[in-house]
Amino acid sequence: MGQGQISTCLATRNPILFGRGTHRRVGEELRRLGVTKALVVCDAGVRAAGILDKILGCVEAAGIGTVVFDGVQPDPPDWTCEQAAGLGVREGVDGVVAVGGGSSLDTGKAAKILLTNPPPISRYYLAHEDIVPDESKMYPIIVMPTTAGTGSEATPGGVITDTATNVKHNVPCISNLGIVDPELTLGLPPSVTAITAVDALCHAAEAYTSNKPNAISDILTEKAISLIGENLPRVIDDPGDAAAREGVQLAATLGGLGLMGPFCHIPHEIGLIIGTAFHIPHGAACGATLPEGLEFAAEALPERVAAVTRLLGGSVPTGASAAQIGAAARETVTRLFDKIGFPELRRYCAREELLAAAPRIMEPYPFVHCPREVALTDVADILAKAYDRGQ
Ligand SMILES: [Fe+2]
Repeated sequence: MGQGQISTCLATRNPILFGRGTHRRVGEELRRLGVTKALVVCDAGVRAAGILDKILGCVEAAGIGTVVFDGVQPDPPDWTCEQAAGLGVREGVDGVVAVGGGSSLDTGKAAKILLTNPPPISRYYLAHEDIVPDESKMYPIIVMPTTAGTGSEATPGGVITDTATNVKHNVPCISNLGIVDPELTLGLPPSVTAITAVDALCHAAEAYTSNKPNAISDILTEKAISLIGENLPRVIDDPGDAAAREGVQLAATLGGLGLMGPFCHIPHEIGLIIGTAFHIPHGAACGATLPEGLEFAAEALPERVAAVTRLLGGSVPTGASAAQIGAAARETVTRLFDKIGFPELRRYCAREELLAAAPRIMEPYPFVHCPREVALTDVADILAKAYDRGQ
């Protein structure tokens, strides 16, 4: 895709404006949505990187007032969402702009709910299915990712950590507009670039090998996987490579779109538990078992796992067995991880601690989108192999 080409995707409930330089349109888009004063939600890193000032300048130039909440935390705790919304209510805002990684976008979405619905945010956890906030009565939100990974701009909800139980919950909230500008990712350090992009790769590869992919999700996820394979090593080698950044950012958005329907399986279900237990960043926790998760799926879906391997630049011999295909997938993803400096599990926890988490992962049984039944012994085996890889 050449510079200056901007795509507008209206195919989902979460419209997206994609392309280099699109962040400058945030003020006019807020005006179009009827916003007169915006709650701008971000973390301290986005402020320190100078991105917040850039966005505030664009919003204020359109004559729109702002109030900033820059207290976003990783794995957004419930109380930060309530703090952000409380500030917005006191200041009389009528819209939200969420700028940053997945945590900022999810906090912004939760704050949008609480601007017009009474706290606490736990009232709106999807699992409870008791209170579904009325979207038509809520103020609009524009989400602006500054990382390329979560795809939160394309998904109708946010993930919030309930601090009383240390469990993550989804809250339902569409994004009225995602402004996805690869220019905002140019300053990301290689470690964050690698971890967040692997999250995007997991979304695409898991959805492609889930038990219910479809023709549309296949197109989105196949493209996302090949874009990552082609562009992620280039971005790690040269963080200023704008074209490669754009490729990874497009993959992240396509991955977010593609997972809606097929959903994720082993890497994400394991990642959600070990990420919270051992304070592992989301992309690192999910990516940790991607090689082994694909190897496990190969027995059920050898052709799809072979396709993922080839899309990432790996080779699969003609006539290979399911086991050989699984091994080729594991080796190909591992090679990509080595190339991009993806962190190993031993950085975060001891082997025994990790293996002890296996029963917790199974309760309640989470692998409803996996193409094969997963037993406790499979989880223990996957965790052990993932931990030992590279030693
Ligand atoms: Fe994810």
